[in-house]
Amino acid sequence: MTDRFVASIDQGTTSSRCIIFNQDGAIVAVDQREHRQIFPKPGWVEHDAAEIWSKVQAVVAGALARAGLRAGQLSALGITNQRETTVLWDRATGKPVHNAIVWQDTRTSALCHELGGDHGQDRFRDVTGLPLASYFSGPKAAWLLDNVPGLRTRAERGEIAFGTIDSWLIWNLTGGTSGGIHVTDVTNASRTLLMDLTTLEWDPGILAAMNVPRAMLPEIRSSAEVYGTAVGQVAGVPVASALGDQQAAVFGQACFETGSAKNTYGTGSFLLLNTGTTPVPSKNGLITTVGYRIGEQPPVYCLEGSIAITGALVQWFRDQLGIIRSADEIESLAASVDDNGGAYIVPAFSGLFAPYWRSDARGVITGLTRYVTKAHLARAVLEATSWQTREVVDAMFQDSGVPITTLKVDGGMTVNNLLMQHQADVLGVPVIRPEVSETTCLGAAYAAGLATGVWSGLDELAAHWRRDAQWSPRMAGPVREREYARWRKAVERSLDWHE
Ligand code: G3P
Repeated sequence: MTDRFVASIDQGTTSSRCIIFNQDGAIVAVDQREHRQIFPKPGWVEHDAAEIWSKVQAVVAGALARAGLRAGQLSALGITNQRETTVLWDRATGKPVHNAIVWQDTRTSALCHELGGDHGQDRFRDVTGLPLASYFSGPKAAWLLDNVPGLRTRAERGEIAFGTIDSWLIWNLTGGTSGGIHVTDVTNASRTLLMDLTTLEWDPGILAAMNVPRAMLPEIRSSAEVYGTAVGQVAGVPVASALGDQQAAVFGQACFETGSAKNTYGTGSFLLLNTGTTPVPSKNGLITTVGYRIGEQPPVYCLEGSIAITGALVQWFRDQLGIIRSADEIESLAASVDDNGGAYIVPAFSGLFAPYWRSDARGVITGLTRYVTKAHLARAVLEATSWQTREVVDAMFQDSGVPITTLKVDGGMTVNNLLMQHQADVLGVPVIRPEVSETTCLGAAYAAGLATGVWSGLDELAAHWRRDAQWSPRMAGPVREREYARWRKAVERSLDWHE
């Protein structure tokens, strides 16, 4: 039997990657390139969507070259992406009309507050599963329509297309100005604040309230189906999946059972619990989102705890403070001391997401004395990730009543043993990493392979999952609760710090 190959594009917040997988779900080749982070004002974060598209083309070429494969040998191409980041482009020229507004950007905070009006932040939660927060795409699109001269009239005439990054890539991959397809998948659409979680259609009432013209929106499709055939460098390959990166990780971690959960540690961290085919509303600051939908099958929903800044705090420690030269140095620096020396860092750079949803919160460092060294701060940087995760795990328990007994983890930060041990310690449950920790790309590849017959079904995919490493809790309960109380005090300071 000749092996079949599936390529997956992961367009993330800081870089784009292409990974080619074989039929066993093993990695054949990887290529990765970073793109520019544009910070025009405090709280604003932008990307150049044209640059992203050229980096994506480069990594696809790179991965094919490293694998020694021709495009024609790919059975399918899948897409996974940073979610919520919003691109508006001119349908006639294919050019973005403005830099993309990134999910971390807080410029729409006031607009969200205004939209909430007397109803407050949960005005659209019943329909969309989401609070009104600057994180989501709809208000970002509305901001662009209000702030780029002439754009609203052009959008109403149907000249402008809106997309999250999946839409932007699919449109370009399938032909761009010469016939590109304008679609998105349910998982990405569920992050816009514009989609009804039950009908899986754009909600006319919310479009009207947010003043977003229907004419600019893509068609909502499932996460695993052939949307179209690629042109250009991968001509002829079916473009067969799209999932937001966190939902793709759910798929790649084979969290197909109701009650299974994973946490992905990237720029931020995102803990998702599969709740089955019925959306479960959150009363404790989590969000309800679509996990995946395979073709015509019923959608599977998740509860999500979104944490804006985890890995990005390590980057900040490296790039803005210059305390370390490379991200992996943080582990040895942190390991050179026994504890955090009393210091806590709450990285509310984009406000605080779950379970607080406070875009006005700001980052704080507490507990400083002259005793504190850069090594203690390195520890506090890592611990900020595990404490924030503890908060969303607690919220998940309050919402579902089901305690998490183990946590499947993936993403770049899971190579950090000190962090993973601390994570197990503060949750009091084992933390488990799979053999293929590139679960985001793997999930998109799985979905594309399912849509094109490379794999037979979920059972075959689940059989690929293998454990690589496990960390068991070692911290004594009273120590854990004392430390947690200190963390919560630091969070209170962060919530108080608004202008
Ligand atoms: O919701 C934002 C998330 O999709 C970003 O993921 O991995 O690019 O930080 P990542």
